[in-house]
Amino acid sequence: MPVISITNLTKKFNGFTAVDGISLEINEGEVFGLLGPNGAGKTTTISMLATILPPTSGTATLCGHDCATATDEVRKCIGIVFQDQSLDDELTGRENMDMHGRLYGMRDELRKNRMNELLKLVELEQFADKQIKTYSGGMKRRLEIARGLMHHPKILFLDEPTIGLDPQTRRKLWDYIKAVNRDERITIILTTHYMDEADELCDRIAIVDKGKIIALDTPEGHKKSLGGDVASVECSEPEKFAALLGKAKLAKKANVAEGGKVIATVENGGEAVPKIMALAEKNGIAVKSVLVKQPNLEDVFLHYTGREIRDEEAGEKDRMKGAMRMHGRR
Ligand SMILES: Nc1ncnc2c1ncn2[C@@H]1O[C@H](COP(=O)(O)OP(=O)(O)OP(=O)(O)O)[C@@H](O)[C@H]1O
Ligand SMILES: [Mg+2]
Repeated sequence: MPVISITNLTKKFNGFTAVDGISLEINEGEVFGLLGPNGAGKTTTISMLATILPPTSGTATLCGHDCATATDEVRKCIGIVFQDQSLDDELTGRENMDMHGRLYGMRDELRKNRMNELLKLVELEQFADKQIKTYSGGMKRRLEIARGLMHHPKILFLDEPTIGLDPQTRRKLWDYIKAVNRDERITIILTTHYMDEADELCDRIAIVDKGKIIALDTPEGHKKSLGGDVASVECSEPEKFAALLGKAKLAKKANVAEGGKVIATVENGGEAVPKIMALAEKNGIAVKSVLVKQPNLEDVFLHYTGREIRDEEAGEKDRMKGAMRMHGRR
């Protein structure tokens, strides 16, 4: 049975459509990913599901409760970790968690036991009585996850859980997210613009762009949906060659990626290489290299949108958000 059912969920801000008629069902125990570039509408979607923003139109039910009308019931069954850090830096880890437990009306004994259980799960017992300002970025995220679980929610939202963290810390955090999903038997909805994160953690991924779901499948299913291999061609006149590949029906789709390479979806990589070379030669295009590989999620995004998910702007915004988090601003 789906634990979340979403039908035509839409959010408009002064006429601008941030979330554009999303429909989907998420099953109990799933780790579900919303993967998309900056501004795709990921946070807005989560905010509506978490009763923080009212939908403009459409509906969503969580554990059978409508997110627009049964906000108290929905709030009891969800935990949320926001995109930007939301801990009180002056308080200790334990105090931050305790405050959350009190907000949910948990009794003393229950709160204490739950805190110890969760601090153990995210391996922060040793640091529990230290102020948050002494924590590293990764430790803060782990504490936020633990705090979000205090009241035994059935669904946990993680909005960009590893943004601004270094690669090693990100990997470690993935282990905690997996442990939470397994040990707490909880449904997790996470947003990310990191392909590797979605690939590693999610049972299913909705690729979102401009407020719409453009593809929805398992990580493997997404890659298979391209129906073959991906050829990456370094050549002169990439725009012209991408168009030629499509016209000659050598590629199902061919786009020019950042760095000027032509990324073409082809049926069979091995068979395509000599044909690609011949086409280039015929049209006076100099080919420097051709690389054939199995598609990854970046290729999937490029295939469907003609753009890459990580652009310069995204990288810059990422760094800014990381820096803001380090300074504890909201
Ligand atoms: N309160 C608001 N008022 C007006 N526009 C908004 C508001 N909140 C979000 N938007 C716009 O809606 C779009 C979607 O924003 P949203 O924050 O949901 O994107 P996102 O996918 O979470 O992006 P990011 O990866 O940067 O977190 C953006 O164009 C954003 O500028
Ligand atoms: Mg966001």
